[in-house]
Amino acid sequence: MARKPRKILVTSALPYASGSLHMGHLVEYLQTDLWVRFQKLRGHKCTYVCASDSHGTPIMLKARELGVSPEELTEKVSQEFVRDFAGFGVDFDNFHTTHSPENEALTVEMYEALRDTGDIYTRTIEQSYDEKEGMFLPDRFVRGTCPRCKSEDQYGDACEVCGATYTPADLIDPISVLSGTAPIKRESEHYFFKLSEYEKRLRDWMKHATLDKNVLAKLEEWFEAGLRDWDISRDAPYFGFRIPDTEDKYFYVWLDAPVGYPASFKHLCARRDDLDFDEYWRPGHDTEVYHFIGKDIMYFHTLFWPAVLQGAGFRTPTSVFAHGFLTVNGQKMSKSRGTFIKARTYLDNLSPAYLRYYYAAKLGPTIEDIDLNLDDFTARVNSDLVGKLINIASRCAGFIGKRFKGQLANALPEPELFAEFADASEKIAEHFERREYSKAMRMIMSLADTANRYIDEKKPWVMIKHDERLDEVQAVCTQGLNMFRSLMIYLTPVIPTVADDARAFLGEAEWNWDAATEPLLGTTISKFKPLLTRVEPQQVNDIVEQSKESTKEPETVADDDYISIDDFTKVDLRIARIDKAESVEGADKLLALTLNLGDSTRSVFAGIKEAYEPESLVGRHVIVVANLAPRKMRFGVSEGMVLAAGPGGKDIFLLAPDDGAEPGMRVK
Ligand code: MSP
Ligand code: ZN
Repeated sequence: MARKPRKILVTSALPYASGSLHMGHLVEYLQTDLWVRFQKLRGHKCTYVCASDSHGTPIMLKARELGVSPEELTEKVSQEFVRDFAGFGVDFDNFHTTHSPENEALTVEMYEALRDTGDIYTRTIEQSYDEKEGMFLPDRFVRGTCPRCKSEDQYGDACEVCGATYTPADLIDPISVLSGTAPIKRESEHYFFKLSEYEKRLRDWMKHATLDKNVLAKLEEWFEAGLRDWDISRDAPYFGFRIPDTEDKYFYVWLDAPVGYPASFKHLCARRDDLDFDEYWRPGHDTEVYHFIGKDIMYFHTLFWPAVLQGAGFRTPTSVFAHGFLTVNGQKMSKSRGTFIKARTYLDNLSPAYLRYYYAAKLGPTIEDIDLNLDDFTARVNSDLVGKLINIASRCAGFIGKRFKGQLANALPEPELFAEFADASEKIAEHFERREYSKAMRMIMSLADTANRYIDEKKPWVMIKHDERLDEVQAVCTQGLNMFRSLMIYLTPVIPTVADDARAFLGEAEWNWDAATEPLLGTTISKFKPLLTRVEPQQVNDIVEQSKESTKEPETVADDDYISIDDFTKVDLRIARIDKAESVEGADKLLALTLNLGDSTRSVFAGIKEAYEPESLVGRHVIVVANLAPRKMRFGVSEGMVLAAGPGGKDIFLLAPDDGAEPGMRVK
């Protein structure tokens, strides 16, 4: 079937180069990678680019805190990104950084084009300024009391308690989170982009961009509220690109971040003769550009970005595909529950194929949130991938291998049954194309059921006992393996490495999408090795445990809300005497304590090394949680928890019982 090859450029949002990738990010990168692999398998020319988002105040401050330059920080984090993405099979054609010469040149080009058409103006605004740190403060770096409900310690842009939105100037008793001092108000000249004049052009774009209805509804809401001009500058000190003809003004990170898409592409064009920058980024060419993003950054991608592109004489995206947010076990990811799972922690324990399949089985084209339920994850991948899919092959391959020297029959015994698998091709492709992955997975698994039913009925393991039925065994197993093969081809974008192994086992050099509609006959296959094993619940538990361990910051109460008094009385608090205290090799913050609880001793790790000399602790009485389940940590098992209070580092204070306390006493 001849398809006209399309030229497609695809992007995922650029991850901030300040933290590690986690399961939430992967919703996006796996969703995109699947789509790109699907397009390539269909024979289209599809290019996938991304980059780290390296600029902005949070990254600058984080680097400062770590005592490195922002360049060093972002370089190191980007290397981790590249490694983790590769681990999950996210196959970018290019992964660049926004702190690059290509990005600076394009950002300046766009800015100057906008300035020359009169879409940029300056205005003096008043902002919070930290005199001690000598810098203007982003809204989130000011905290204070909510002017509406009077809740204390709220961010400068919105109240988490009553939902009010405001500016830092509205807060009662504001303080800078950087220095703890009260910010002053200070004037500064800022550069604005006239977004307000783009409504008509944006509405035109919207009509063609085939956006999801939720995205359209959001846009409509924003239009109704009225588009406001956009402040695109920040004052020094700032990690970013300096605005031409200024001394100390920088482009706001969100101006140059999306420019990272064409910039990464440009960087790729320099080493690929078959890609032409203008063909993908100037108007009037027969190419397609798609941005995959999370729903939290729609405003930037459906208003600011298309407007900037239009104003600066670039082409606009063909569409923007927004997805929802990930919850784990039905709740926001939480460090205390061990559900804030880093990409690396997952990869240390499990094959990426499972997660790729699980997300595919849950994803659709809308901004609805998706849940990673860990029990369901184990059950689902075991049942679908191992129990249904791989099972087809393992039930047929052995007979072909042992009894027929790996030789497949020359004809299918049931061509109509195979036709069902071949005929599903276009429908499954349509689901992939529309990002209806869950529908595609359902179709594929229902065909896997059909294949297993066929083998159940034929019972090759019974036939094999009758010499006169040997031909039939070969035919049935050839039928089975061909059904397996078609499904594997359809699943290639989802579980590419498993598909590669399956292809090698079947002795084929290459697969394209249409190969699924033609059976493989008369050839020789290799010895079958299990392509995937079951996920053991213990492996998932390990991931959760290791995610608990890797937390350093104290968890805020915000996402856990309250516990009941019943919950509280479950905690068995006891007095213990410290019999031994030692440093732990390789751990900066931990001490290994041996605790005497009267009737027993416990080994407990406590993160108090920066605050206490080990020697000073011996003989002291402390309070421990005595019924905490033992936790396996990198350095050993911890059998309880010592209670201490304070912000961390040197300021941690052990809760010390008064004189008269005896080891083993219950704390009431
Ligand atoms: N740097 C910006 C994007 C700039 S694009 C020009 C950013 N970075 S991010 O690291 O915070 O997020 C990267 C992508 O991952 C975003 O599309 C975001 O929506 C997505 N996700 C981050 N956490 C997520 C979940 N918990 N769930 C699903 N997607 C999530 O935003
Ligand atoms: Zn409030």
